[in-house]
Amino acid sequence: MNESRAMWWANEFLNVEQNELTIAGRNARAVAERDGTPLYVYGRARILQNYETIRRHFVAAGGDLETRISYAAKANPHPRILKLLEGQGAWLDAVSPGEVRTALEAGFPARRILYTGTSVSEDDLKAVFAPDGITVNIDALEQMDLMKEVRDRWFRRRRIRVAVRWNPGLGRGFSPRAVTAGERSADGTPVKFGVEAAKVGRVFGKAARFGFLPVGLHQHLGSGWVREDFPAVKEAVRRMVRKAGVLEQRGFRLEFLDFGGGFGPRFYRTQGLFPAADYIRHIVRTVAKAGLSIKAVAVEPGKALVADAGVLLLRVVYVKKSYGHVIACVNAGTFNTVPRPAVYAQASHEIVNADRVDGPNKVRVTVAGHLCETGDVFGKERLMPMPRRGDILAVLCAGGYSRSMASRYNSRPIPKDLII
Ligand SMILES: Cc1ncc(COP(=O)(O)O)c(C=O)c1O
Repeated sequence: MNESRAMWWANEFLNVEQNELTIAGRNARAVAERDGTPLYVYGRARILQNYETIRRHFVAAGGDLETRISYAAKANPHPRILKLLEGQGAWLDAVSPGEVRTALEAGFPARRILYTGTSVSEDDLKAVFAPDGITVNIDALEQMDLMKEVRDRWFRRRRIRVAVRWNPGLGRGFSPRAVTAGERSADGTPVKFGVEAAKVGRVFGKAARFGFLPVGLHQHLGSGWVREDFPAVKEAVRRMVRKAGVLEQRGFRLEFLDFGGGFGPRFYRTQGLFPAADYIRHIVRTVAKAGLSIKAVAVEPGKALVADAGVLLLRVVYVKKSYGHVIACVNAGTFNTVPRPAVYAQASHEIVNADRVDGPNKVRVTVAGHLCETGDVFGKERLMPMPRRGDILAVLCAGGYSRSMASRYNSRPIPKDLII
């Protein structure tokens, strides 16, 4: 493996100096020694750069529609990250009353928040109807009577803005568990999200009859797209625009179309990167060609904004050899820090030895955590310089769906985080 291939992930946030990892220009070991491990380190500048990249894709795509980059807070609801993005004019995708509250506390005005719930309860509705100006995404025709009851009881005079999350009949994601549209996921699980195509008109009609204000159509196909997903994703854009046209013909004036999240950075070297710029151009052009009278288009990036702006630093407590395997035992567990590899069989995070990024005589190393679980493995049989006790390892792309998914399993703590 040549140097550039070994360090395919190097960028302004993560780099290498004298074969040691740097994070936002600081030596990773020095950061680990000062703040302790395990430790999440997030890069402010990288998050801003990721936001700017998406914004520029929209500018390059042209068109005169307003564009909304709606941060999927579930990726990482750290208040300082929310504040940072709010300051850029981002919108916000919240999937629980807790996320709505955190976003409001971080300064997001309610009118820039879209709440997209699933299995939405009376308590959820009470909480998310409260901030005046918020938009509430409807997930099911069957949820609407409850919506009306809660609105009539607690918010009688409020004309609540609603959108409809529809299921366009096709979904895409890096794992069957990350596919959120279509009839069934890739492993056969019936997909629970959204309103099926044939019922969308009825939901809009009922929303208007119930006195809600229907303003948008939304879809989210799934997460972690790779290059090969592009044709299917384009087809889903086409379906959404066609559906919006049908709704307009039926007299529903939509303010926005929201195409959800799904695209993101490269998590591992061989991953074919999803062409985000082409995708955004495709959205803008398809919408323009259809001549819809909408005002805005939105996307809801989570991973694309924060995943590659974070790393998890770990310390090797000892290196064990067992039946010929080299196992680097580290001072944290996946479930408590970066759970994706334990949750999704398909998830893979690059792991770098911060003390010796590259070198000769590489060996296959399995990086294992301290939980009582066979699946508690950060990476299996990774080719890297032989690790030693005390080495600092960095798990890359840990800025999203890491701390926000972490649990206290085995009564282990969730690490501290540092934003630099
Ligand atoms: C409704 C919705 N929007 C956006 C996202 C963000 O997805 P990603 O992080 O892949 O961009 C998700 C993730 O699950 C989601 O459920």
